[in-house]
Amino acid sequence: MGRRKHEDGSNDVAAVPVSERVVSADGANGIGGPSGEEDAALRPRSFAEFVGQRKVVDNLGVYVAAARKRKGALDHVLLAGPPGLGKTTLAYLLAHEMGTQVHITSGPALERKGDLAGILTALGRGDILFIDEIHRLQAVVEESLYPAMEDYRIELVTGSGGVGARAIPINIERFTLVGATTRTGQLTSPLLNRFGIVEQFSFYSPAELTTIVRRSARLLGITVDDDGAEEIGRRARGTPRVANRLLRRVRDFAEVRGDGHISRDAACYGLDRLEVDPLGLDAGDRRILRTIVERFDGGPVGIESMAASLAEDRDTIEYVYEPYLIQEGFLIRTPRGRQVTRRAYEHLGLPPPVVVPPVGQTNLF
Ligand SMILES: Nc1ncnc2c1ncn2[C@@H]1O[C@H](COP(=O)(O)OP(=O)(O)O)[C@@H](O)[C@H]1O
Ligand SMILES: [Mg+2]
Repeated sequence: MGRRKHEDGSNDVAAVPVSERVVSADGANGIGGPSGEEDAALRPRSFAEFVGQRKVVDNLGVYVAAARKRKGALDHVLLAGPPGLGKTTLAYLLAHEMGTQVHITSGPALERKGDLAGILTALGRGDILFIDEIHRLQAVVEESLYPAMEDYRIELVTGSGGVGARAIPINIERFTLVGATTRTGQLTSPLLNRFGIVEQFSFYSPAELTTIVRRSARLLGITVDDDGAEEIGRRARGTPRVANRLLRRVRDFAEVRGDGHISRDAACYGLDRLEVDPLGLDAGDRRILRTIVERFDGGPVGIESMAASLAEDRDTIEYVYEPYLIQEGFLIRTPRGRQVTRRAYEHLGLPPPVVVPPVGQTNLF
């Protein structure tokens, strides 16, 4: 594989795998892991502290108030959107606002029907069961969730499942399932249909991210100028988790280089060292765009060919990287594959392709 050096100092494909960059898929696993612990310290503790996502928060506020008034359980809630936007945080907040217990698990952690049955039978009335990465549930586990969601009933199978095994129905408490997913499209429709509330998260504005950076800095005892916070917020890819990560790393640079204070200059220095460019794209983002330009003539290219060429997991490209590149107008999805836009060429400092009109046709541009 070629390893050409580019003007911006980054290497061509074959450099660092995208998932090791500032943006990574790990937080999507939600529970455990270093980023899980890092996140916990900075998590807002009430609806009031939760910045942005106004529509989602306002809607949920109404549903919570209504459920409390009825003294009933909240309807099942699905929180959907790219990693790092606050789905797990909001699941905790729902429990807090409802004044109930929250039990945490994830799709991959529930390997057998029995794992789920054990959790469901232990739930108290009105409790919240949070299943992160719910699109990754095994089919058999998912199917046993249907009657639980609908009729608060599960079936326990006695015996070893062979001849003589019997399914015994058991009632469980009325609970609220809160599911989180980065991939709504991968949910089966029977599961999707059983959620009474579906909320889609969107990327945060630079102003909202600036507010989040200032709040996190306060909690971590970091001094940051308004300008410095704004610079980090603007380059955080619309994502609070990225904003918090950048803040910590920029602080490292500011401490080693100066007194730890984050001015705009210090922020710019740190962000440049982290290879996060003025529009917030990191080395992984640029590598994706550059690969499409250099290897596939700008596209359209199928996701599989892209994944092979980048030596990167298809899902990481599709669900971690692309949503932001698409929202910012660097990439479009066409029926024939992904295609970079003129904006991507301009941003990479590459000449856009010359469009030669077919013979006999006037170029309208
Ligand atoms: N609206 C918000 N306001 C302030 N901080 C937030 C907000 N949303 C997310 N965060 C921060 O970002 C981190 C990641 O959020 P998380 O809920 O784990 O995202 P997700 O579950 O969607 O991947 C959390 O540590 C939290 O501190
Ligand atoms: Mg999460």
